[in-house]
Amino acid sequence: MNMSTKTVPKLALFPLMTEANKQGHLVIGGCDVVDLANEFGTPLYLFDESTLRHKCREFKEEFGKYHPDTLVIYASKAVLNKALALIFKEEGLGLDVVSGGELSIAHSVGFPLDKVYFHGNNKTLEELSLALDLRVGRIVVDNFYELELLEKLAGKRRIRQNILLRLAPGVDPHTHQYTTTGTIESKFGFPLATGQAEEAVNQALSASNLNLLGFHFHLGSPVPEIQPYELAMELVLHFAREAGRQFDFTLSEFDIGGGFAVPYNLDSRLPTIADYARAVTGKLDSLISELALSRPRLVVEPGRAIVGQAGVALYKVGAVKEIPGIKKYVCVDGGISDNIRPALYGARYEALVANKASGSEGNMVTIAGKLCESGDILVRDVNLAAARPGDVIAIPVCGAYSIPMASNYNALPRPAIVMVKEGRARLIRRRETYQDLMSLDLI
Ligand code: LLP
Repeated sequence: MNMSTKTVPKLALFPLMTEANKQGHLVIGGCDVVDLANEFGTPLYLFDESTLRHKCREFKEEFGKYHPDTLVIYASKAVLNKALALIFKEEGLGLDVVSGGELSIAHSVGFPLDKVYFHGNNKTLEELSLALDLRVGRIVVDNFYELELLEKLAGKRRIRQNILLRLAPGVDPHTHQYTTTGTIESKFGFPLATGQAEEAVNQALSASNLNLLGFHFHLGSPVPEIQPYELAMELVLHFAREAGRQFDFTLSEFDIGGGFAVPYNLDSRLPTIADYARAVTGKLDSLISELALSRPRLVVEPGRAIVGQAGVALYKVGAVKEIPGIKKYVCVDGGISDNIRPALYGARYEALVANKASGSEGNMVTIAGKLCESGDILVRDVNLAAARPGDVIAIPVCGAYSIPMASNYNALPRPAIVMVKEGRARLIRRRETYQDLMSLDLI
């Protein structure tokens, strides 16, 4: 914590080393964000390169400390483009992809594809073919249809594809129902409880073009507790021991998915990366010895916990509407088109007036977007410095799942993205134009 976070506690939610300068402007990665908003326009998303790299290293170090054979694969769905993919490549991470599109972005920057894990509950024939042709490291098989299809496609190419099976352990991660994935009724994975997981192991082992290396589960996102991971590990490793006995199978890879939570608000009390790492590896050790299993490679798939804090959304204030005695709206130039999370999941964010970052905050307002929906609210009831037209609003922890879920609703062009580092900002995605919006239309 630096001096500024003591006087302005909200700064702790922003990228590492964020501060307020003498003018009271928010400074991230050495860049005055008010200048960035003026130079690049708004809405603007920024990523702080040092925070991104720091998080990658923290995952590798914390898990590697206890379980040296850990592979950290970044979950691309949280946000991916070429510049980000290059950073993850440089940091030596693997990559979790869920579509031919994500795979193509990784391929375009020369990402080592043997460290790519391909997930998804309905990978298409074209996507599986592309994955096989590009020789991705692992395909995480989700269902019987895929198991059969993949065996045929690998057979045609005369290759033996390394796979994991995605299991649904039947554990509730206590998160939003839309992002709960490891329960028995989920669309993802082979349920343990129904005997289908066992049947899948049997089929996978008899498929001559598939090489079953281990199991994967992903409980949901974000998972604010450690206990659901521990429970799921127990269930899946017991299953692995049974499978070992029944089918002469050795678990060489164990992938516990992602879902590691990050604080969006000052009152959040969540496990840190170090807490997750210590608990998960400790549990793995004790289960391995209890069940007499050989030590598998551990795979973790963080998305949000790597990019969340590194990303900030910047907007300009336009209309300020006060309904006397009832409510005050501060309206900004983006909204659910660039961040649907508040509307979709009831996600709660903090916010700051970036050009009044060290002043007092005595105004309870609601930050509304500019889209034609009453549900287009970015932050309800937040305490801000008095905001006027032209002020810049900064929303922290916007790195994960805002940009990739953005739309062109109301024909709004999607925002530009800049990467900041040591006082320099570079554009890593240009703002869409009206021309872009029409570029695919044919008449
Ligand atoms: N691995 C698998 C198989 C996943 O499905 C996911 C996320 C992750 C890893 C990464 O989870 P993370 O570490 O980022 O929590 N749109 C939602 C989140 C959906 C997550 C989908 N899967 C949101 O905005 O909260």
